[in-house]
Amino acid sequence: MLRRSAYKNLQQRASQLQLKRSASQSVASIYFPSEPTAPVLKTESIPGPKSVELNEELGKVFDNRAAYFVSDYKQSIGNYLSDADGNKLLDVYAQISSIALGYNNPELLKTAKSDEMASAIINRPALACFPSAEYGQVLKDGILAAAPKGMNKVWTALSGSCANETAYKAAFMYQAQKKRGSLDFTHEELSSVMENKAPGASDSAILSFEKGFHGRLFGSLSTTRSKAIHKLDIPAFPWPAAPFPKLKYPLDNHKHENHAEEDRCLGELEKIIKNHPTDIAALIVEPVQSEGGDNHATPYFFQGVRDICTKYEILMIVDEVQTGVGASGKFWAHEHWNLTTPPDMVTFSKKFQAAGFYFKNPDLQPAQPYRQFNTWCGDPSKALIARTIYQEIEKYDLVNKTQEVGDILYKSLDTLLSKYPTKMKNLRGENFGTFIAWDFTSVLERQEFLDTCRQYGVNIGGCGDSSVRLRPTLAFGEEHAKLFLGIVEEIFLKLYK
Ligand SMILES: Cc1ncc(COP(=O)(O)O)c(C=O)c1O
Repeated sequence: MLRRSAYKNLQQRASQLQLKRSASQSVASIYFPSEPTAPVLKTESIPGPKSVELNEELGKVFDNRAAYFVSDYKQSIGNYLSDADGNKLLDVYAQISSIALGYNNPELLKTAKSDEMASAIINRPALACFPSAEYGQVLKDGILAAAPKGMNKVWTALSGSCANETAYKAAFMYQAQKKRGSLDFTHEELSSVMENKAPGASDSAILSFEKGFHGRLFGSLSTTRSKAIHKLDIPAFPWPAAPFPKLKYPLDNHKHENHAEEDRCLGELEKIIKNHPTDIAALIVEPVQSEGGDNHATPYFFQGVRDICTKYEILMIVDEVQTGVGASGKFWAHEHWNLTTPPDMVTFSKKFQAAGFYFKNPDLQPAQPYRQFNTWCGDPSKALIARTIYQEIEKYDLVNKTQEVGDILYKSLDTLLSKYPTKMKNLRGENFGTFIAWDFTSVLERQEFLDTCRQYGVNIGGCGDSSVRLRPTLAFGEEHAKLFLGIVEEIFLKLYK
């Protein structure tokens, strides 16, 4: 039986690797002294019977058809996600890249059980109208303390899509205000906008990149250019998309071709901007196109994008919803680029739990109140969680630790994958923390790998057409990396021997 032999092997591997906990191993051993040393497998397959039953029940009232299995968050710990049957899976997917410090992190639990958290939860304010006395300081000590270089203001939002859409609104209002100058809104603007018509309703655009992903709400979906399933049947703005470089890996071996490819894309970008029939208020770009397949580009490309934005007075928005908060080996992935001028806005969500966008230029705040507005305008309870996440990352130097663990993962995967050149290729994410991915040669083979991982007690995700991506927490240490690599090696042997 696969499950029994897999389980035995996992236990053996854990003891071979002497995965005993000690303070020197990783921050996980400090946070989670009773974290398992290997996946715990209780049922013959995952999802197990309880998971299936609970999911069927849930399906009667909630669209759960994307569910892998039903989780037990109370029993989850550190890097292990527990399911309803008591299986504990080593999690390198971490709620689609959104758990920063591991499940049931004791410091986050302390924050969660504090009086200030209770008040923030039960007295949720309409922040723009009735901000709490503490909100400014909570932002300064957390979200703003983590602000990318060159940015000192934030607008808080509700999700990754919402962060991007509020950034788009800021861009549209900024560009319109620049044209309008000190003049007030005209009567024509005020009346035409009620009919969704120009000049009140702007026809200016947000430019995004092919295969980019920026969310699934109406506005953000128009800038999303991957995963057709999310876009189908939804009305979309006629906004432009520019090609994103298709680089060859390993990057070092293809410097010349990759450089030419990036030049080609920069040339296309400029052409698209010049020929677009309406104004382009902003451009949005991910440091790594994540949902679209973990597509990287070099700092040269992003500096080129920055220069083009400056030349055409287009605002540059960097979408760090998935890349932000440490996983890339820098707190913000765009720090890898060393841009000569910072982006105009940087959006965040996922690992920070709180969402929003950073900026510096005060004019990105509209001249009148109520224009960038919704009932909640963020969530003080999430700002408290973000503060603890930031402080813990700093306390344990988790960004640098993530880079170290990423190096181990990348080097070992490089060796491992090279043994199966007809099955896997394009390992990427070198010197990019644990933000690592590779391609299978077909969707089916990718799926087989993902499914087998689950049976071995590893929760892992795909992206793009046939890629696998690693998105572990920042508490994923060397011991987890070695265990993961050992399991992957066993799976490759089983599938491809
Ligand atoms: C880069 C990026 N931007 C935006 C989003 C949308 O975030 P949300 O799903 O929280 O709306 C995602 C989600 O995966 C993302 O990866």
